[in-house]
Amino acid sequence: MRKHAGASASLVVEDTTKAPRSERMRRGLSRRLLQAQEVEREHVALELHDHITQALCSILIRLEIMTGNLPAQATESREEAAVISGLVEEAAENVERISSRLRPSVLGILGLIPALRGAITGFVKRTGLDLKLACGRLHGRVTAEAELALFRILEEALQNVERHAHARHVTVQLEQTGAFMQLTIRDDGVGFETKRGPARGKVRGAFGLLGLEERATSVGGSVRIKSAPLAGTQIVVRIPLVKAPEPVNAGRAGSALQLPFPPAHSR
Ligand SMILES: Nc1ncnc2c1ncn2[C@@H]1O[C@H](COP(=O)(O)OP(=O)(O)O)[C@@H](O)[C@H]1O
Ligand SMILES: [Mg+2]
Repeated sequence: MRKHAGASASLVVEDTTKAPRSERMRRGLSRRLLQAQEVEREHVALELHDHITQALCSILIRLEIMTGNLPAQATESREEAAVISGLVEEAAENVERISSRLRPSVLGILGLIPALRGAITGFVKRTGLDLKLACGRLHGRVTAEAELALFRILEEALQNVERHAHARHVTVQLEQTGAFMQLTIRDDGVGFETKRGPARGKVRGAFGLLGLEERATSVGGSVRIKSAPLAGTQIVVRIPLVKAPEPVNAGRAGSALQLPFPPAHSR
């Protein structure tokens, strides 16, 4: 990591059960909005998959049949059909990519770490940046909702690195600290002045960091954003672990999920 210059500022958003009633109501509403957004995303993802992908596949099959029926000397038409076929395939791949970003199904099927890995792999492919993922030894669990929150937070944080940071190195760390699951995303990019950050209402139209905070607080967690010009950015998210122990091999159907953590490692 580049040596960070100067003192860095930070902003902290803590969830507290002693928050005033209006604040608790706002958080409740925000949580329901986030849940509704996820339901809508899932709906759109399924629509895309069921209708658009299916339709594109039908087009491909019919195109193939049509090409097979073309006379041998119709080389131009065959070439054109091959071009169309390539375009349709590309469109189908794009639809699947959009669909899987809308609905991180891998999260529900495989769990948090493979889902985080998937997001990271996509980021590395797009940006070519050096990204290290480190997972500590984790024994606790967080709720399914909290897993989704962590996943969406990572997505937003990586998108910010891609858009704004001009970083060379990025580190993502998932670890257990006491009764919390902690996700840290650190970059050595240009950083920014957090006092002027969106949480202070001075950056118009910047909902990413605010959304990130909403995500964390909606599942009882907190976020600390530490950044300063030319000093990189660090985002630390802490989500409380589920308290009640669950039977081993409880499966992934419940709201509290067993996280299949491998030993400490890095990519
Ligand atoms: N990792 C980062 N490195 C540098 N600047 C950042 C980073 N993350 C956020 N910022 C700054 O904070 C601003 C607000 O971020 P955000 O709320 O996500 O909105 P948006 O990404 O839509 O601009 C960004 O416009 C950018 O100036
Ligand atoms: Mg953003």
